[in-house]
Amino acid sequence: MAIINFGSINIDHVYQVDHFVQPGETLASTHYQTLLGGKGANQSIALAQAGADVRHVGSIHENDASFKQALIKKGVDCRGVKCSEVPSGHAIIQVTPSGENAIVLFGGANQTITAKTVMQALDDTRPSDWVLTQNETSSIEEVLRQAKENQLKVAFNPAPMSESVKQLPLDCVDLLIVNETEAAAITGKEEFEEIVTVFKEQWSHCEVIITLGKAGVMMLRKDDVIKVNAFTVDAVDTTAAGDTFIGYFLSAYSSHTDAKQALRRGCAASAIAVTREGAAQSIPSQKEVDRFLAKHAN
Ligand code: RIB
Repeated sequence: MAIINFGSINIDHVYQVDHFVQPGETLASTHYQTLLGGKGANQSIALAQAGADVRHVGSIHENDASFKQALIKKGVDCRGVKCSEVPSGHAIIQVTPSGENAIVLFGGANQTITAKTVMQALDDTRPSDWVLTQNETSSIEEVLRQAKENQLKVAFNPAPMSESVKQLPLDCVDLLIVNETEAAAITGKEEFEEIVTVFKEQWSHCEVIITLGKAGVMMLRKDDVIKVNAFTVDAVDTTAAGDTFIGYFLSAYSSHTDAKQALRRGCAASAIAVTREGAAQSIPSQKEVDRFLAKHAN
C-alpha cells in the first residue's frame, strides 16, 4: 500500500524574533536559517520516517535539487518531483521565544502542478492506496476527483485555509485533518460544539480529525468520537507540528493500526518535533517515537 502525496516543497527562511513584527515596525532577528520545509514535504518526511511507502508529487526549481535529495535521503520516493524553471516555493517564518510562528508563503513552483501531472501520478495506483494533499499546490480539485475515481482513499489537510477550499469537491474526501481555525472556517461556525455538530451532521461521508494544539486531538468517526491528550513538553518551535502529526498518524492508520493508537503515535511524534528547531529537520525517527511512547506509557 502506497501513499501518494501531492504536496509543496518550500525553502523556509526562519527568523528568530523577540515578537512578531508589527505594522510599520522594522525588527532585527536574533538568528536566521534556511531550511527544507513546505507542508507537503514535511508530511512526506514524517510518513517516510514512520515507515510508510510515500511517493511525493511536487515541483522545485532546478537549482534547488539539493532539497529534493534531502527528501530522498529521508526515504521519500521523489520520482514524481519535477525540476522546474519557476522559482521554488518559499516561506518567511518568524519564530518567537515561546516557539510560536507566523508564516508568509510564496507558492512558486508548487503552483505548477497540472491536471496532466495528477493523471500521470495516479496512473499505476491500486485501490488500497491513499492520496494525501494540502492547500499549498495547484490542481487540488483534480487530485481529489481523480483519486476518488481511481477508488483511492483520500486524506485532505486544507492548510493554509482559503475561501477556495469550500469550492472543492469535498465529498471526495475520506479523512479531513484540520486545526481549530481551519475547522471554524470550513464549517462557518465559531463555537467548538457547533463545529462538531456540523461535522457530525454534514460530513458523515468522512472521518474528521481536529488538532487542538496543547489540548491534543479529537477524531470524529461514524459511531464514535476519540479524544487523545497532547504530551506536555517544552516547545521551542511549533513549525511542522501538525505536519509531523499527520505523517505519523496516517502511516499507522493506513496500515490498519487502531485509530486511538495511531492518534497517540501522531501526538508523540509532534511533541518531539516541537522541542526542536525547524520544520523537516525537527521530525523524529520511528525509534525516537517508540522510546518517547515507552517513557510516557500510562
Ligand atoms: O507547516 C509548516 C510549513 O508551512 C513550513 O515548513 C512552511 O514551509 C509552510 O509551508
